[in-house]
Amino acid sequence: MQKTILRGVLPVGVLLALLACTNPAMPDRSDGAAFFAENCVSCHGTGGRGDGPLANVVSEAPSDLTTLSQRNGGTFPAAQALSFIYGGPYSDGHLARIMPQFGPVMADDLVPVEIDGILTPTPRELAGLLEFLKSIQE
Ligand code: HEC
Repeated sequence: MQKTILRGVLPVGVLLALLACTNPAMPDRSDGAAFFAENCVSCHGTGGRGDGPLANVVSEAPSDLTTLSQRNGGTFPAAQALSFIYGGPYSDGHLARIMPQFGPVMADDLVPVEIDGILTPTPRELAGLLEFLKSIQE
């Protein structure tokens, strides 16, 4: 009898431990800043103003990412910005074209994020980026 109970209890404990390991703290601004520094500054510049070293090399000028809210009537356009970054077959995201492996790599690790008022499963990297981009708005 006791053995049966133990068998039932132990896996739950193991499962909880595993969940704790696979679900680290929610990404924040500093995660986003690190991701931005690694993947975005080449075009958008360290401050996100569209003045990175590749800005004059790419065929279209990289956007000034500090004015996303300003250009959207004072509200940060979260869904629009994130879907643009993520790219994919149904949007015109530039990264999907320039770095095709980017979206699929992101999709593996989803965290719940409130985007435009709706709790949305969001790739961890995008969740961090969202916080970072919000923080650099003028
Ligand atoms: C190879 C250059 C390049 C890289 C790298 C790049 N971008 Fe861009 N980005 C652009 C260009 C050019 C545009 C202007 C729209 C377009 O693609 O034609 C743009 C537009 C955007 C927009 C839309 C802005 C608006 O005004 O609506 C967002 C948001 C954005 N980029 C975020 C990012 C983020 C975040 C990263 C890194 C994960 C990134 N970009 C990496 C070149 C780049």
